[in-house]
Amino acid sequence: MKGYRIAVLPGDGIGPEIVREAVKVLGVVAERTGVRFDLHEGLVGGGAYDRFGTPLPDETMQLALASDAVLLGAVGGPKWESLDYSVRPERGLLGLRSGLGLYANLRPVVVFEDLIDASPLKPDVVRGIDLMIVRELLGDAYFGKPRGVRIENGRRIGINTMVYTEEEIRRIAKTAFDLAQTRRKKLLSVDKANVLEMTELWRDVVTEVGRDYPEVELRHMYVDNCAMQLIRNPGQFDVIVTTNMFGDILSDEASMLTGSLGMLPSASLGAKTAMYEPSHGSAPDIAGKGVANPLATILSVAMMFRHSFDRTAEADQVEKAVRMVLKEGFRTEDIRQAGAVIVGTAEMGDLVVERLRAFPA
Ligand code: IPM
Ligand code: MG
Repeated sequence: MKGYRIAVLPGDGIGPEIVREAVKVLGVVAERTGVRFDLHEGLVGGGAYDRFGTPLPDETMQLALASDAVLLGAVGGPKWESLDYSVRPERGLLGLRSGLGLYANLRPVVVFEDLIDASPLKPDVVRGIDLMIVRELLGDAYFGKPRGVRIENGRRIGINTMVYTEEEIRRIAKTAFDLAQTRRKKLLSVDKANVLEMTELWRDVVTEVGRDYPEVELRHMYVDNCAMQLIRNPGQFDVIVTTNMFGDILSDEASMLTGSLGMLPSASLGAKTAMYEPSHGSAPDIAGKGVANPLATILSVAMMFRHSFDRTAEADQVEKAVRMVLKEGFRTEDIRQAGAVIVGTAEMGDLVVERLRAFPA
């Protein structure tokens, strides 16, 4: 039976608690299928900095490169906020993204029927929402040069550079079109082509790639309008493809359709080893209290089964188990609802595992 090597990088804040629950899910899937998962833990983020003076030790990068997939918790916290940019916990994450060549970040936004009331938006607006944000992850102002703060003519100036080559746009566009083809065949490309030349190129290249996908309906939208439409009428969207920075912002916004950032998984795909992590951060305010929502991380494991291991059945089962637990009325604090049973991080993980175990083999 095939085995997979998984780098487990819990990171900071609530990272370790939520990753522990996702690892339980890997364990029960291994039991049920006979597939072997070899887990190897590594340090990343603030914890890695404290120990080694760098948020991404070489050992961790090597571990990730030698694995079939990476499961990451979260990085960062107030303790490290005053550090130089070059050693901030976030650099660890960005280093993993670039070191693994992860250019495509998939952020599904799915509104679970039983959580409709958790959204600050009206039920009619969010019911049935199932959209996918495809965020380019290796370009734009995140990695563009020149960058930095320096002194010119006696005063400080700050610079970041939004930059994309046409190859970079083409490959993410292909990812998005391929995905749209497996879904409702509607792709929205988000740019700011009325102001930014770089995104005019983005629009042109996405349109060119679209010629190879005649079945997919391609639309373009300016990012400001998209931000508004996501709240006004999110049901119009299927797949959204956009730049690194716009994708960062729009995905946080879109998470609120579901009511909690604690429900949003993500997959970052590239050439080989992909990385899976919840879309939320390290939530230092609740770290160590055992109240964090592990479902985004557990759903990220489902994405791992689907995208890295080609095990759709197991991916479906994990997602189904999560739906069942929600349907039965169990909630973590972040998705608290009147009449629900509030459970902690470990209990929520155990509930999902129990449901999984009960499925026929
Ligand atoms: C995200 C996060 C990261 C990003 C930070 C932590 C570097 O906000 O994954 O959305 O900006 O990409
Ligand atoms: Mg973000």
